[in-house]
Amino acid sequence: MPTLLKKEILDQGDIPTHIAIIMDGNGRWAKARNLPRVAGHGEGINSVREIVRACGEIGVSYLTLYTFSSENWQRPRTEVSAIMKLLLGTIKKEIKNLHKNGVKLSSIGNLEELPKDSREGILNGIEMTRNNNGLNLILALSYGGRQELLMAIRRIADKIQSGEMEKDQISEEKLVNELYTTNVPDPDLLIRTGGEHRLSNFLLWQSAYSELYLSDIFWPDFRENELITAILDYQARQRRFGKTGEQIS
Ligand code: FPP
Repeated sequence: MPTLLKKEILDQGDIPTHIAIIMDGNGRWAKARNLPRVAGHGEGINSVREIVRACGEIGVSYLTLYTFSSENWQRPRTEVSAIMKLLLGTIKKEIKNLHKNGVKLSSIGNLEELPKDSREGILNGIEMTRNNNGLNLILALSYGGRQELLMAIRRIADKIQSGEMEKDQISEEKLVNELYTTNVPDPDLLIRTGGEHRLSNFLLWQSAYSELYLSDIFWPDFRENELITAILDYQARQRRFGKTGEQIS
């Protein structure tokens, strides 16, 4: 769809500030074509490229992609290593173009658990783009929502133990300060592709009031038109944050 037309349609409603996506269905996309699972991840990269570009053009400020979960380490070793290679190869290949387009790359999750070359590739990309002020592209890598909450709780416990904080000072704000996503607004729209209806340990704290959009489409087939459909669906909803409809309108 031409950029102008796209903007004209979407600008009639709220553009979500933060979109988070659970990119699911790569394996099934490949299986349906008698291809190895990794071919699905490879094609998934083309969706990543298209969705990143579209989000930049639409004026989304933050895009978080669930790229590799804490639990994904349990997959067969060959698949894990193929995903890590794909990740590094993609960053190396795309980073100049992302940089040129003002994208600021960052990550959430335990990067320490990644193989050294993949970790360094990500860190180089983060460093190269750190002064950009276009789309914030956040890759969730070795990320788990429960693990993130445990990390935050431990950090708060350390502060209490050292006398830096009192127990009574624990608040939502103090907890948010210890999450990977401190300084990032909560997702307005959380998309899951691939037909499953669950959060799978993604942004458990941050998604408390996110609008969920569940699509049956496998990630490699989820492209710009599907994103626009999701945003239009989001725009048709009323976000009440626990209040009544009358209070909102
Ligand atoms: C889920 O599909 C997909 C993943 C766990 C990996 C996604 C990773 C990529 C597309 C590479 C991303 C790279 C960058 C640079 C962001 P699945 O394998 O769980 O599919 P299935 O449910 O059909 O088995």
